Amino acid sequence: MGFENLVFLWKDGGDSRKISRVNLAEGAYLYKLVHNLSAPYIVEIGTMRGGTTKLLEEANQSGVVFTVDLAPNIETSLGERAHSIVADSTKIEVNVDSVDLLFIDGNHFYEGVKADWDNWNKAVKIGGHIVFHDCYIVKKKYKTVIDLIKELKNNKTIGNNYVEQQAVASLCHLIKVG
Ligand SMILES: C[S@@+](CC[C@H](N)C(=O)[O-])C[C@H]1O[C@@H](n2cnc3c(N)ncnc32)[C@H](O)[C@@H]1O
Repeated sequence: MGFENLVFLWKDGGDSRKISRVNLAEGAYLYKLVHNLSAPYIVEIGTMRGGTTKLLEEANQSGVVFTVDLAPNIETSLGERAHSIVADSTKIEVNVDSVDLLFIDGNHFYEGVKADWDNWNKAVKIGGHIVFHDCYIVKKKYKTVIDLIKELKNNKTIGNNYVEQQAVASLCHLIKVG
């Protein structure tokens, strides 16, 4: 399915988010990334209404998507290449190392996203991608996704093991290099 057939995931106007909780620019970025991968093995943390699951499945007709959520409420018609897993992403025993794209869009508090990072980053193969959603400064007193990214830069994980790609809006895109 081409990107033009996925516009129902968004609405017109300033905040384009609808079924998909990524905005239109972020959706286009993810679509292009996945479209250009070869038969990608994709893991998504945070299914919600299935908006980005649909996008990730349709962006590449040879890919498979495993999407994890504590309590998904899927409103999109997913195909046979998308698999919903109802579970706490931080408690899943991860024993794979060949994931091409890990899309992290679950618990956005620092402790939650750190737990996802600790549990899942080993699943991504060298040359594979990790994309975080909602990586922006929240003017509140709690720590969030951006604090994890700062920490990974400070301890040189980003730099030595991952390189950051220029992405769009609130996406943070890393490629695993070691
Ligand atoms: C922002 S929504 C995901 C939106 C979706 N990626 C999209 O844009 O269409 C975040 C989801 O993460 C789920 N979530 C939060 N913590 C989780 C956890 N520890 N394990 C699994 N899912 C979790 C929530 O239930 C919620 O549905």
